[in-house]
Amino acid sequence: MTASEDIKLVISQIKNEAELFQALAIREVVFIEEQHVPETIERDTEDARAYHLLVFAEGHAIGTGRLVVLPSAPKGEKGTWGQIGRMAVLQSHRKHGVGNLLLGELEGEARRRGLTGVLVHSQLYALGFYERHGYRTVGAVFMEAGIEHVEAHKRLDRS
Ligand SMILES: CC(C)(COP(=O)(O)OP(=O)(O)OC[C@H]1O[C@@H](n2cnc3c(N)ncnc32)[C@H](O)[C@@H]1OP(=O)(O)O)[C@@H](O)C(=O)NCCC(=O)NCCS
Repeated sequence: MTASEDIKLVISQIKNEAELFQALAIREVVFIEEQHVPETIERDTEDARAYHLLVFAEGHAIGTGRLVVLPSAPKGEKGTWGQIGRMAVLQSHRKHGVGNLLLGELEGEARRRGLTGVLVHSQLYALGFYERHGYRTVGAVFMEAGIEHVEAHKRLDRS
């Protein structure tokens, strides 16, 4: 995919188990193969209850992300919060706005559910991506899946 190509993107909630497997396949390529995250960490019990999105380019699934409602607000916050995570876009389709599309739609779902805010555990290298969307770093750098991460919060405007 090159910048000059005008590829139509379609984003939708995962509708069935087959589409969940498509999302897990993208995550396998991005996190397990590319970033060497152990499979036992990449797959977790939240997948069963999360809200998942898939992005399709010309019928092929090329990006995914999920929203999980947290059982309690993160430290220093009040209300009901969600966690956006497992944001993954196939390398061939990065830097063309797919990540922006996914994050915007996941935040939209969080707003529809009336959530107060959303947090991410951002890999340090990707922090600029979340900061562009209004996320603010909270606390110190920590290791997750052998990769440096930082927590970042965004309060949602429900007006
Ligand atoms: C992070 C990721 C999902 C972004 O997806 P993408 O489709 O390339 O993102 P977009 O093209 O929508 O880029 C959105 C914006 O963020 C910027 N951006 C993208 N990746 C970035 C990065 N790693 N660091 C800083 N800025 C970044 C883009 O330049 C763009 O800026 P703009 O809107 O001002 O033009 C993708 O790089 C990815 O799958 N990475 C591997 C998995 C991963 O690390 N996931 C995040 C875990 S925290």
